[in-house]
Amino acid sequence: MTTKEHVLHLLNTHIGEHLSGAEIARTLSVSRNAVWKAINALREEGYEISAVTNRGYSLTAPADQLTPQSIAALLSPETQHFAEMIQVHPSLVSTNQTAKELAVSGAPHGTTVIAETQTGGRGRYTREFYSPAGGLYMSVILHPALLHFSQITAVTAFAANAVCEAVTAVSGREPRIKWVNDIYLGGKKICGILTEGIADLESGGLSVIVLGIGLNISAEFPPALRKKAGSLFPDGAASGMRSRLAAELLNRLLGWSEPPQESDIFAAYRSRMMLPEKPVTVVQGQTEYQARVCGIDSEGHLIVETADGMRRTLLSGEIRNGEP
Ligand code: BTN
Repeated sequence: MTTKEHVLHLLNTHIGEHLSGAEIARTLSVSRNAVWKAINALREEGYEISAVTNRGYSLTAPADQLTPQSIAALLSPETQHFAEMIQVHPSLVSTNQTAKELAVSGAPHGTTVIAETQTGGRGRYTREFYSPAGGLYMSVILHPALLHFSQITAVTAFAANAVCEAVTAVSGREPRIKWVNDIYLGGKKICGILTEGIADLESGGLSVIVLGIGLNISAEFPPALRKKAGSLFPDGAASGMRSRLAAELLNRLLGWSEPPQESDIFAAYRSRMMLPEKPVTVVQGQTEYQARVCGIDSEGHLIVETADGMRRTLLSGEIRNGEP
């Protein structure tokens, strides 16, 4: 981390307090002049930092900055070396699309593409993903060889757990997962995950995975979405929240020293699942049928029972609640 990032981290972790230039300089083992320069650079980036005589500096209601620096300042030591791979764009068609283009040109594991808004954000089955300013839209390039997962479903489960844990870390609330990859809070979908792979033609496996996460923070939804879609903080989020969420996510997705274990991932995923009690409509491609959800197996596959008593294990697809 640069001195500026260290200073931002210190101020961010002491919101509401004042830290003197001498105190910051001592903590970071840098000169007071270096602290002063860092404060000025942060102010130029838009951070509101007040200076009170005899008390010091304080980060006062920072604009909800979402910059590589504001995220980097909150990354764990294990994730820190991915900081320089974070890009934040004012607007993109789709962060997954940009990340896939980067991946094809050789971008490394951990490359993260974030956009303030998306003009063509996509969900599963090429559905539109509503992406107004103020949400968190990010795509992370993952190299499966580093994750050592035996199956792609583990990536989605890994991401769903990471979203749930990040949301709990910033809000204290416990979201639930609707199979396969929708994150719900208070009965509404607050986040969708789109996992896309780039095939390795030689091995027949996947060379790269692009993990797209769209999190509604305080969005106002158009009437067509209002019944189903919700926001994590419908009444407004504390400033800096998107950076915190992005960092909490990256810490979980990238900041591990030993590859995450699939059995742990699926166990946590299962414990967070919402299992509908009423019959559901199972949608698999063009096929739709009614079924009762029996549970999730140890690898995150959904087990359903059709009206004729047949049990099926679903590796992909989606379920719609209730009768059609
Ligand atoms: C879904 O609900 O079906 C998945 C939605 C995934 C949306 C995210 S937002 C960031 C990334 N870029 C996209 O275009 N889609 C994903």
